[in-house]
Amino acid sequence: MTAKGGDDGGKPGTAAAGGVLCRLADIPDRDSRAFTITSNGAEREIFAIRLGDEVFAYVNVCPHRQMALNWKPDVFLAYDKSRILCTMHAATFDIREGHCLTGPCPGQSLESVPIVIEDGIVSLGACADGAMKAGERPAKSPA
Ligand code: FES
Repeated sequence: MTAKGGDDGGKPGTAAAGGVLCRLADIPDRDSRAFTITSNGAEREIFAIRLGDEVFAYVNVCPHRQMALNWKPDVFLAYDKSRILCTMHAATFDIREGHCLTGPCPGQSLESVPIVIEDGIVSLGACADGAMKAGERPAKSPA
């Protein structure tokens, strides 16, 4: 799994397998950043949200209509930053769990992406087959 991460203020960068997305400090607290990763040879758009020392990441595909959630680059949160927002039909999702809170996809969830944070570096979590695993919860940063 490789990653292109937003390390230059919005334009995707690049990282290696199990790759580095960015520094934790590159994501403002209670804000989000988009990245492009490669999983099993296919590029996928993901986004990461920082809550203090934790980062939660999901594939940028809404379970309602399989469309990208965002309209503006790096903007994945509702105005009050309490929830993930799909701008297409206004579904909202829990930041920590990814499940639908309101909108047209009740009972469904975003596909989570495993994240590891070590020494202030945010990386993709390792998977046995090098592929993202649907439904896997993102790792919490070390206390
Ligand atoms: S595509 Fe996300 S709410 Fe419809």
